[in-house]
Amino acid sequence: MSRLFSPIQLGGLSLPNRLVVSPMCQYSAKDGVPQPWHWKHLGSMSTSGAGLVIVEATAVVPEGRISPDDTGLWNEAQEQAFAKLITDIRTYSPTAMGIQLAHAGRKAGTLPPWIEGGRALKDGEIDWNIGAPSALPFAEGFRTPAALDEAGMARVRAAFTEAARRAHRAGFDSVELHAAHGYLLHEFCSPIANKRADQYGGSLDNRLRFPLEVAADLRAAWPRDKALGARISGSDWTEDGFDADQAAVFAERLKDLGYDYVCVSSGAIAPGIHIPGREPGYQVHLSETVKAKARLTTMAVGMIAQPELAEQILAEGKADMIAIARGVLDDPNWGHHARARLGDPPAPQPQYARAAPDLWPGYTLAHQLD
Ligand SMILES: Cc1cc2nc3c(=O)[nH]c(=O)nc-3n(C[C@H](O)[C@H](O)[C@H](O)COP(=O)(O)O)c2cc1C
Repeated sequence: MSRLFSPIQLGGLSLPNRLVVSPMCQYSAKDGVPQPWHWKHLGSMSTSGAGLVIVEATAVVPEGRISPDDTGLWNEAQEQAFAKLITDIRTYSPTAMGIQLAHAGRKAGTLPPWIEGGRALKDGEIDWNIGAPSALPFAEGFRTPAALDEAGMARVRAAFTEAARRAHRAGFDSVELHAAHGYLLHEFCSPIANKRADQYGGSLDNRLRFPLEVAADLRAAWPRDKALGARISGSDWTEDGFDADQAAVFAERLKDLGYDYVCVSSGAIAPGIHIPGREPGYQVHLSETVKAKARLTTMAVGMIAQPELAEQILAEGKADMIAIARGVLDDPNWGHHARARLGDPPAPQPQYARAAPDLWPGYTLAHQLD
C-alpha cells in the first residue's frame, strides 16, 4: 500500500487516505448560496478518490467575499443549501467533506477572474465597507479598506464562530480557517499589509494576535470529534515579509490551541512579487520547515500533479497529506489513476467500475502506458 493511500487520523476524523482536494473558488454562487454548478463540481470532486474534499473559500460576512459570486455562510438560506448539498453527496460518496471559512480583507470586492480580468469593483459598483489591518489598498484600482477597530474585529470573530456553527449543522466533517493568500488573517500576519501601531501590529506576537483570537473562537465552536485546520502562508516571497520560521511559530500556537493540521501555501500578499521557480512541489520546503519545527500534521500543496511526487513527499516526511487543486480539475479521476500508478488496489465508484484501470483494457491506451 502506498503512503498516499494509507489512512490518517485528523483530530476526530478518520480518513481512508492522505489525498485532499484543495479548496477552489468557483465564483458561481448567488447571494452566497451554492448553485447547481456546485452540485456538479463538488459531486465530481467527491468521487475523485480523495479522502477529503475541502469546499471553496466561503465568506463569513458579505463584505468578506472576494467577489459577489463567492459562497457564504452567514445566513439560513446558505446553511440550508450546504446541508442539502452534503446530504445529496452522502447518498453516493463516503468522502469526508470540509469547508474553508474565509474573509477576503482588503482583497474583497472584485469581479470573477474570467470577467474583465477579475478587476476590483469601484465605489458605486459595490457598497461593501471593506476592512483590513491597515488602511492600505491591495493595489492600484483597489478600494482603500478601513483599518478594523475593536468593534470591527469583534464582528469578524463572531462571524467566524457563527459560520462554524452553521458548517457543523450543515454536516461538514472539517473546517479550515483561511489564513493565507493575502486575505484578512494573512494580512494581519504579514508586515507587508499590517502597519498597525497597537497590540495587533509590529512584533510577530502582535501580528499573530488577531488570527489566533479568531482561531481560538473557532476551536471553541467546532466539535472535537471532527477535524479543524488552517491554511497558512509559508512565505510572502520577499525579504521583509512573513516567512517559514514565522509560519512555524503560528502553526505551533495553532497546535497548542488544539488544531489538527495546517496546510502550508504561500504568496499573494501584494501584487508584483516574483515567486522563484514555480516548478513541481515548489512550496513543499515550506511545509517541511513548518512540520519539523511545529510538529503538527501538515498538508503540502502547489504544483503536485504526479502521484510519484506526492508519494515521495510523504516518504521523505516533508508533509503528512497532499492537497491538489488544478490536477483534480483537469482529471476528476486523479485519485483513481494515482492508485493504479502507485500499485494500490482499485477503489472505483461502483457505477464507474467498468472503466476502472484493472477492468478496462483501454486504460493503458488512454494513458499511453506500456
Ligand atoms: C480555480 C481555483 C480556485 C482556488 N480557490 C482557492 C480557495 O478558495 N481557497 C484557497 O485557499 N486556495 C484556492 N486556490 C488555490 C488552490 O487551493 C491551490 O493552493 C493552488 O492552486 C496550488 O495547487 P495546485 O498546483 O494543485 O493547483 C484556488 C486555485 C484554483 C486553481
